[in-house]
Amino acid sequence: MRETVERLREEALAAVAAAARPEELEALRVRYLGRKGELTRILRGLGQVPPEERPALGALANRAREEVEAAVASRLQSLREEEAAKRLSAEAVDVTLPGVGWPVGQRHIVHQVRREIEEFFLHLGFSIAEGPEVELDYFNFEALNIPRGHPAREAQDTFFLTDELLLRTHTSPVQIRVMRSLSPRLPVRVICPGRVYRRDTPDPSHLPSFHQIEALAVDRGVTFGDLRGTLELFARTIFGPATRVRFRPSYFPFTEPSAEVDVSCMCGGKGCGVCGGAGWVEILGAGMVHPRVLEHGGYDPEEVSGYALGLGVERTAMLRHGIDDMRLFLQNDVRFLRQFA
Ligand code: PHE
Repeated sequence: MRETVERLREEALAAVAAAARPEELEALRVRYLGRKGELTRILRGLGQVPPEERPALGALANRAREEVEAAVASRLQSLREEEAAKRLSAEAVDVTLPGVGWPVGQRHIVHQVRREIEEFFLHLGFSIAEGPEVELDYFNFEALNIPRGHPAREAQDTFFLTDELLLRTHTSPVQIRVMRSLSPRLPVRVICPGRVYRRDTPDPSHLPSFHQIEALAVDRGVTFGDLRGTLELFARTIFGPATRVRFRPSYFPFTEPSAEVDVSCMCGGKGCGVCGGAGWVEILGAGMVHPRVLEHGGYDPEEVSGYALGLGVERTAMLRHGIDDMRLFLQNDVRFLRQFA
């Protein structure tokens, strides 16, 4: 009997020491110490042992039992610790490794300049209005005092979709749409940014599609002086505080009088590629809204007056950043675009 206890004890301890997983330990515990376990059975069977051997054998078996119990517990503990250590090292993050760089995008330079111009007018109390790029002949031409057969139609090489439908050649049609939706309320103070289309072959200063921003102010008593003041502030804000503005008489069918507006070149008149030595560069067209245009918009030209202006966003970006080829805006060469991050 003694030998059996000894053997079971050694066997159990060896098995416990070799167990690699908690489930194995549980199986061993049941096998040796459970209700029908091998050591348990010996303790139960003490009754059959001669009385003089009972105390010694009982003590031996109890000690073996306790020892195996303790071994199971401590092995379980160290397995758990090993497991935790393994998991921790597998999940470990080396915070000293270089990170993964996520390339961050940026707004296109045309978009940036558009935003800046919008900001300027928003601060003056203008709001933003948009119109469709596929436009009716009526809004693009007719209501702007450019009837059929008018030579100004030829000047704007138009993409016609049908007789009545076209890709808008400027943002001026939004003037009419806005006035119609607001009339007879005053004042009208809106800007209309957006894409326009002209049948031009791309070259350094032409693209078949580019962006304009229209501004329109209508109220009682709006004067050319208001237009001039707005544009002087505009030029200083967008091109720098030393910028000067020059008005040249011009002609647009939808404004009277009309002007083309130049700003002093950033070369200071010394002559550069941007101004060609002239010292001035044209930035936009403007004028007092033609009475017939006010009528088409639903306002009485005897009662109200207004000014309007239209500028090219690409052109403004080119002048400000010394860009000499408009096609760069569409080529998506990141080496070009990144310069404006
Ligand atoms: N629509 C004109 C153009 O595209 C610009 C302009 C707008 C001129 C408003 C006067 C007033 O050339």
